[in-house]
Amino acid sequence: MIRVTTSLLNQLSDLVGQAFEKCDLDPSFGKVVVSQRRELGQFQCNGALGAAKKAKKNPREIAEKIVAELEKTGLFNELSLAGPGFINMRLNDEFLIKHIDQISGDASFGARDGHTPETVILDFGGPNVAKAMHVGHLRATIIGESLRRLRTFLGDSVVSDVHFGDWGLPMGMLIKEIELAKPDLPYFEEGNSGPFSEVSPVTVDELQLLYPAASGRSKEDPEFLEAARQATFKLQQGHAGYRALWQHMLDVSVNETKIDFDLLGAHFTEWKGEADTNDHMPGMLDRFKKEGLSEISDGAVVVHVAEEDDKKEMPPLILQKSDGAVMYGTTDLATIEIRQQDHKPDSILYVVDARQSLHFEQVFRAARKGKSITEHTKLEHVGFGTVNGKDGKPLKTRDGGVVRLRSLIEDAIAEARKVVLEAGLDDRFDAEELDNIAKKVGVAAIKYADLSNPRMSNYVFDIERFTKFEGRTGPYQMYAAVRIKSMLRKAAEQGLKQGPLVMTADAERNLILALSLLPEAALAAADKNAPNILCDHVYALTQEFNSFYHDCHVLGEKDEAVRSSRLTLCAITLRQIETVLQILGIDVPERM
Ligand code: ARG
Repeated sequence: MIRVTTSLLNQLSDLVGQAFEKCDLDPSFGKVVVSQRRELGQFQCNGALGAAKKAKKNPREIAEKIVAELEKTGLFNELSLAGPGFINMRLNDEFLIKHIDQISGDASFGARDGHTPETVILDFGGPNVAKAMHVGHLRATIIGESLRRLRTFLGDSVVSDVHFGDWGLPMGMLIKEIELAKPDLPYFEEGNSGPFSEVSPVTVDELQLLYPAASGRSKEDPEFLEAARQATFKLQQGHAGYRALWQHMLDVSVNETKIDFDLLGAHFTEWKGEADTNDHMPGMLDRFKKEGLSEISDGAVVVHVAEEDDKKEMPPLILQKSDGAVMYGTTDLATIEIRQQDHKPDSILYVVDARQSLHFEQVFRAARKGKSITEHTKLEHVGFGTVNGKDGKPLKTRDGGVVRLRSLIEDAIAEARKVVLEAGLDDRFDAEELDNIAKKVGVAAIKYADLSNPRMSNYVFDIERFTKFEGRTGPYQMYAAVRIKSMLRKAAEQGLKQGPLVMTADAERNLILALSLLPEAALAAADKNAPNILCDHVYALTQEFNSFYHDCHVLGEKDEAVRSSRLTLCAITLRQIETVLQILGIDVPERM
């Protein structure tokens, strides 16, 4: 019996595995892959070589026996041998058609069949209070959002948490800086326990100036730094005025980042932050102390996380500094415990800059040591490389400053508008639709460029290249989908119907093969947290569609059965391209 699965490669591997079994050989040798040389076959199996080695037999003889077994199934159009014992296969059309009918009737094209659903928490975005999101948050947001969509597509129950940076020393620094600028505000009055005004005393623009000022002052003025430390501690202990002021800073910052997240189409189910650990903190610190998991070192409370076979230095995780303040790692550890209570996750994935790998290693080890999370729960730092300028160094503004995320997106949209105007689209669309198209093209350009690189690699930000309507770009993939849409619209206008599939050309078969590989691509992308695999898949698919469209008439086809079959094929292809682009966070406009 063929296992019930909608992945074509799995079905074939099972089938060939059974042939091996009939020849008294291990069925695992039946693994089938897509052929690298299409002229020889659609698929190949190289297992006869391994099987022969194990059985001390001639590989070609074994391959011949397997081929004889496979011939009996009647499912193949062509079976041949190459080299020392490679088996090449071409499926018959009924099989292909049945397969594509089956997966095209499924929302996930069969991908969900190969996935065991789990509860996964995705921690991404990670903006900080008072700081505008910068280029460093770009990848966290784009990759995180795409993994969120992918996991949802595969049927997981997904929690996405923005994990705002809102609880460390920068908060005390800001409080003190605001006090210097506006000393008369009620938040600083000794003993004032509120209530305080509903209106924030600072705007987001002010905050973004106050932060660098405070940070510069902390470096120059040790007294200011000390005052900031104390303010941080008081804030964490619940000082009413500081709390109220902090809430204002948080609110205006959150509202500001929501604009960026909306532009990038990122979605969070939780808007929590470091500060949300505050109530949990005393109990956790207590437990770590009582269970002997933490100890005092130079006045600080630390957890030793080094292990014997460590190749690199593994400093202890600092839970509390000598002044009592908790750290970035302490809030992350407490967040793990809270997530365990709230969601009982199977995995927690942190989509954060690769340069934070030591931090996560320390936190994960402390969490394991303290049993903060169940043993089976996977904790993974999904790191990524930097976005570089054309000089190969991390992207900076012309005067050496940090590049704001907003300006990056705005530049991309402006460049997209230029390209769209050059293509003459303004003759066909009104201003509003043109705006909409430019926005979609600009965002698609940034996202596809980012996601198509293996996540750990750095890449050069080159918006002119990203917005091109050719090659491996977002706009190109998007355009491929728009063209199919417009063709299907034309067909509908002419009253042409879609109908059952019939195969008349290899280009049609190849397109079906490309469509059939989505489950493999989606599952591998989820397994490795690698959206680039889906970028490759959609690129291969649009290429295959182009060949099909080049070789086969669709609207102009005279034979009605062939034409309606091809229209069906176009509709399935469109749905799959749109589905994958949707996972990558790319919206396809209706017209372009
Ligand atoms: N706010 C941090 C930053 O800007 C990122 C937070 C990542 N998430 C986490 N759980 N540590 O670097």
